Amino acid sequence: MGEISKDISSTLQANEEVVEILHPKGGPRLNKMDGQILPIFTTPQIWKSIKEMKPRNSDVFICTYPKSGTTFMKQICAQLLDNNYRIDQANQKLDLKTSSLEKTGSEVIEVMPDPRLIKTHLNYNLAPKNSEAKYIYVVRNPKDVVVSYYFHCKLFKYYGFKNGKLDVFFDIFLAGEVEWGCYFEHLLSWLTHIDEPNILLIKYEDMLEDIDAIVKKIGFFIGGNAAETVSNTISLQQVIEQSRFDSMKENQDRLFVHVESYFEGGGNFMRKGCKRDWKNYLTREQSERIDQAFVKHLTGTIAENWWKEEMKWDED
Ligand code: A3P
Repeated sequence: MGEISKDISSTLQANEEVVEILHPKGGPRLNKMDGQILPIFTTPQIWKSIKEMKPRNSDVFICTYPKSGTTFMKQICAQLLDNNYRIDQANQKLDLKTSSLEKTGSEVIEVMPDPRLIKTHLNYNLAPKNSEAKYIYVVRNPKDVVVSYYFHCKLFKYYGFKNGKLDVFFDIFLAGEVEWGCYFEHLLSWLTHIDEPNILLIKYEDMLEDIDAIVKKIGFFIGGNAAETVSNTISLQQVIEQSRFDSMKENQDRLFVHVESYFEGGGNFMRKGCKRDWKNYLTREQSERIDQAFVKHLTGTIAENWWKEEMKWDED
């Protein structure tokens, strides 16, 4: 890798539990194990438990590169798996319905009732496998991802990036020096397996365009209670209403446990929830660098012609 990773490896700092990386150019705090860049909270014990995890046939995994619509998908699936889950009930934190693998490790997931909803940002090769379990892989165009990811790192206290600069973050994102690594490699790892019957590919942008069709697709993919829920017009509409951006924003403090201690003051996890917000932040040069990386990594794949409209520079 380039200059950035050379700088990173020379600034590795031993910590009691994790090897913490302090980015020399002022990027967010990170952690590295087995060559994989991970969040600061993924301890060696958690990492070991993930590698040893044996998913159950009834498990539903939500797999994404960060900032691709994970929470949106969690909100939909949590309702499809449990008719009693409602975002406006104070005692039902979304985080507790959908365990975050790299945050909790598999021990916490072990005691969750079936069917378990498990979120992971791991690439295909690292994600725990079971050919009977269901995997929903959500993708979003990289220009909106990088901007959303930048604001995410400024928001969560543990990154120590409150005053971080977008141009610094942009460079480390393109170099793949962020949690869960290179956007393009992550995408490619899943695309190689996308024809497998237990993997469903969903685009974030399609969730914005036609939420009814997407929720139905997810329901029939999961099957059982989820299929029944989307087959009934009333329960389908309830799931959709509770998954709308405004509804989730209104109930933002119910999405996560420990919101107060996680977030920098004044920040919003439910930030914009749209496409092409990148146009308000990226320079033309940055936009072109993503276009070049896109062509380099994705030419000849099914993603080759994705997001033409979402990623074009032209004035809106
Ligand atoms: P923005 O930062 O562009 O607003 P993740 O859950 O993978 O971290 O992704 C977060 C992104 O999804 C944020 O994007 C957030 O606003 C958006 N998002 C979350 N819930 C959404 C919803 N119901 N509808 C549309 N976008 C949503």
